[in-house]
Amino acid sequence: MSEKVTVRTIAKKHTAGEKIVCVTAYDVLSGSLADSAGVDVILVGDSLGNVVLGHETTHGVELEDIAYHLGAVVRSVKNAFLVADMPFGSYQSSVGAAVDAAVELVKAGAEAVKLEGAYTEEIAAIVKAGIPVMGHVGMTPQSVLAFGGHVVQGKGKDGDAVLSTARKVQDAGAFSIVLELVPAVLAARITKELTVPTIGIGAGPECSGEIQVFHDVLGLSETEYRHTRAFVAGRELLSSGLQEYTRAVRDGTFPTEENSS
Ligand code: KIV
Repeated sequence: MSEKVTVRTIAKKHTAGEKIVCVTAYDVLSGSLADSAGVDVILVGDSLGNVVLGHETTHGVELEDIAYHLGAVVRSVKNAFLVADMPFGSYQSSVGAAVDAAVELVKAGAEAVKLEGAYTEEIAAIVKAGIPVMGHVGMTPQSVLAFGGHVVQGKGKDGDAVLSTARKVQDAGAFSIVLELVPAVLAARITKELTVPTIGIGAGPECSGEIQVFHDVLGLSETEYRHTRAFVAGRELLSSGLQEYTRAVRDGTFPTEENSS
């Protein structure tokens, strides 16, 4: 039987050189599928703004949205470690606001929170409040306007700045750090230099673990990106099931006597 994953489990896996497997989830279905597959970490990501709510960016996601979806995931997960994303605007204005938002997510069932960028005072204050923090550096989607798009960060000489941010986030107390859309060579270097595990997405194979969006892993997204892989053709599979249902109702082959009360 699998055991409950905690921050200690993650630290132990890192020390033992075992990969840390993370995926996003947003509801009971995705939470229970991810948990029963045996992933280590489930992130209720603000990517829900894109993949669930249909927004272009994550900017419109509110703290209440994360708490609402987190509630459903909490009810479906037994073993995975549950991290909740702090959405845009919930931690940027002050240390107090950041702690209040993190506390709210823990009250809603999160076991840790994730926030983007070098908000070191905020990270330290949340950690001081007893809440584990996952950092996130590189191409941080909440800063997409400043980056001018979802573009790879840390190419060439800019790599030093990403490494320096990752170091600051670690020193502020983060227990792990997501590296998003950074060159694989840089991600490998950061992973070697940090003591906490790095969790890659579009960051090559040398990170301590990997995180992917649920919809991308299962082939449910309309777009396929270079940094993703669909491990099953989910969209086609589900769509053909729905088409068959539609046909069966229309041609009278469903429901039958067997489906009747
Ligand atoms: O919101 C999200 O899904 C994320 C990850 C993919 C890192 O932040």
